[in-house]
Formats: sequence, structure tokens, C-alpha cells
Amino acid sequence: MSTILISGGTVVTASGTLDADVLVAGEKIAAVLARDVTGAGEAAVAADRVIDATGKYVLPGGIDVHTHMEMPFGGTFSADTFETGTRAAAWGGTTTIVDFAVQAKGTSLLATLDKWHAKADGNCAIDYGFHMIVSDVNDTTLKEMDACIGAGVNSFKMFMAYPGVFYATDGEILLAMQQAARSGATVMMHAENGIAIDQLVAQAIAAGRTDPVNHGLTRPPELEGEATSRAITLAKVADCPLYIVHLSASQALAAVAEARDAGQNVFAETCPQYLFLSLDDLARPDFEGAKFVCSPPLRPRDHQDSLWRGLRTNDLSVVSTDHCPFCFKEQKELGRGDFSKIPNGIPGVEHRMDLLHQGVVAGQLTLPRWVEVASTTPARMFGLYPRKGVIAAGSDADIVIYDPQARQTLSVATHHMNVDYSAYEGMEITGRVVTTLSRGRTVIDDGKYLGAAGHGAFLPRGLNQYLL
Ligand code: URP
Ligand code: ZN
Ligand code: ZN
Repeated sequence: MSTILISGGTVVTASGTLDADVLVAGEKIAAVLARDVTGAGEAAVAADRVIDATGKYVLPGGIDVHTHMEMPFGGTFSADTFETGTRAAAWGGTTTIVDFAVQAKGTSLLATLDKWHAKADGNCAIDYGFHMIVSDVNDTTLKEMDACIGAGVNSFKMFMAYPGVFYATDGEILLAMQQAARSGATVMMHAENGIAIDQLVAQAIAAGRTDPVNHGLTRPPELEGEATSRAITLAKVADCPLYIVHLSASQALAAVAEARDAGQNVFAETCPQYLFLSLDDLARPDFEGAKFVCSPPLRPRDHQDSLWRGLRTNDLSVVSTDHCPFCFKEQKELGRGDFSKIPNGIPGVEHRMDLLHQGVVAGQLTLPRWVEVASTTPARMFGLYPRKGVIAAGSDADIVIYDPQARQTLSVATHHMNVDYSAYEGMEITGRVVTTLSRGRTVIDDGKYLGAAGHGAFLPRGLNQYLL
């Protein structure tokens, strides 16, 4: 079994920082050797390879629990395959993704799961799991939820938005929540009032307001707040753990905070686009705003302070990307003249760790909190801990060596996602991934991709380990 010693770095975990060397044996972390007490030099002699991490952070690999590779949506497919998307993730220090299998109406959950396994199997550079999108609630679907749990898929996303596509009624949501609750599974909610939104969209189109900015204006934050409160109430009645995905608005955050203060198992994630981009981007001229169309939409800038605060107070426990890339050419362009036809989604799987590091640089997050929201809590929330999400003996050797002083400029010219624009074009940032290990295999090293499609393995996940 080959060994690697990562020496001289600062190990950052959710509980603090430690000057320590990390010994990897095969696919696992064998030891964390605090330098001041252990004489780690002896281990260095024993290792087959030594990586000098002096001046660098040694982090547990990032875990992005919200991605959409090859997702059928808006009459097209998201542009990253499992191969290109997981490769890009590794470039950015993410070593696990949890993607969404999408039940189409009239199809079974288990057939859907098989389909998503076929897309991912043999193609991923890093490990992966699945959530299940439930868009057709009926007796068969409800029974199949248990079979999904048995197959390692125990989180179910439902939609209060997109009537006619993924939308579920309150009654259907309640039934699915009751079913999930019986097994201890978590329901994930896209919380926007899609029925009201569709009326606002129809009014805007009828009035000739067709530019991308109207995507944001027809999905006001109040309708995210209302749907979030309703989801929380339904989850309370069903006694089901609830995870609000891609939370963007301070109204929604207030609802989550109130429920958590009352002791309910309600959790939420936000995404980098809501922390760094705003409605102003959706208003860019010449249809450029289409690059920023996602749902919920980017909000006025004043929501960002609440989101950063929510990350500090743990009312927001996770940052994921909702990576759902559509090329500007031919995909986003489907909505020229009608913003409602722009495929919804923003690319970002490659940049989450870097963008959150800007929060550390700006004093919005501490170093341990960066690791906690990007790796440790996602692992616990979705049943992967302690195999993932921590640098500790026995855990998978998913390790990122991060240079906190490096400078880089985000750009379509240098990113690795399979999409023809960057939502962060020209943004200058501090910090960069130097090395990414996935189960002991070097995937990224010093600007080179050394991974392989098929190295990434499916991760059957356990139940939520983060319940109150
Ligand atoms: O705009 C988004 N968020 N696209 C992906 C699908 C979803 O709702 O997460
Ligand atoms: Zn969603
Ligand atoms: Zn999504």
C-alpha cells in the first residue's frame, strides 16, 4: 500500500487549526501527526512520497451537496457531464458531489435511479452520491421512497415552484414528508410560491417586459419567504427533517431561524451566487443578464449581509453551488425575447471553495467555519461522516492543499467547467487549490489534472447525522 506524507502544513478542520503532518496510506488517512509532539520527521522517511505543504492549508475535501450534471431542464440539458463536472469540481477542491436524480412525471423512482447511475458510473473523477427529485407523488412513488433509502439515497427534493414541471401541491408534499419521516429521511425543498410567480410572469410577458431582469422581478423575495414558512409548517405537521435548498432571501432566512429557535429540525443552505452576485447582474444589458438567471433569482445586494450573518449563526449550515450550467450560446439564448424561456441555472462547482475563502479573507467567516460549511456539515447532513468531511485517522484521504496567498482571476478562459461563460468573469481572488487528493489518489497537482474518469465511486449514504 503506498503512503504519502503531507508535511509542514496547517490542518484546518471544523473544530480548529493544527500544525500537523498528515499520513495517507492507500485510500485512507492513517495518522494526523501534530508537529510539536510527535517528531513527524520519522514518518517522512517512511512515506513513499512527501508533499511539502509549508505555508499551505490542509483541508478535508469540499463536499458540494447540490449539483446538476446532465440535467434535463427547460428543453435542454445542463452542459456539464458527470465527467467534465466532477473534473472541474476537483480543480476547485471539491472531492464529493451529491447530484440530483430527476423523476420525470409518470416514471418510477427506481428506474430514475438506474438512469442516473448509468450516467455517472465509470465517468466521475471524484466520489458522488444522489438525492432524488420527486415530481410525481402517487402510491407507487411513496412506496419506492423506502427502496431509494435502501439504495443509499435518503434525501428527496420537492418543488413548490415550476407548476406543470416539478411542482407538487401542499397535499403531495405532506404525503411525501410523512413517508420520509417514517424512515428518518430528509425532504429538501425548493421554496418559492410557483403558482403566484407564474401569474407575475404572465403579466410581465403580456406587458412586453421580456428582458432577463424580469426573471428576478417576477420572483420577489416575499414569495420565497412565504413558501419557506409553508414548507416549515408542513414539515412540522409531518414531523419530518427539512432542508431548504438554495436559500437566497432574508425573508426565507428569518423563517428558518424562527423554526430553528423553536427546536424544529429545519436546515438551510445558500450558494455563492447569492453571496457574491445580485439583481444588478440580472439587469446587465444586451441579454447578458441571461447568464445570471437561476431560481430563486439573484437578489438586491442588501440580502447578502443577512446571508453571511446566517452562515455565522448556523441558521445557514451549508454552502453548495446548485451548479446547473447552460451555455450562453444556444442554451441561455432560448429565452431571447421571453425571459421565462431562459434555462434556469448558474455554473459554479469549480469555484465554491475559492469564493468562500474570500469570505475568510474579508472576515465574514473564520477558517474553521469555512471548512464546516463547505465540507464537515454537508457530510453530517447527508450521512457521509466521518468517512468524508474531516481530516482524521480512518477517514477517506480526500484532502485539499490550499495556498491562501495565491492570486487568481476567475475566467471562462481558465475554468474547467464545460460552459462558455463565467458568472464571475474577471473577479480577482486570493487563494487557490494546489493539490487535490481523492481517496489517496492525486487528482490535481500544481496546475495539472492527474485524475481519471471512473476513479470516483458511488457513495451510498446514511441518514441525517445533524438532527437537533
Ligand atoms: O436555477 C436553478 N436553481 N436551477 C437548477 C434547478 C433547481 O431548482 O435547483
Ligand atoms: Zn431548486
Ligand atoms: Zn438545484
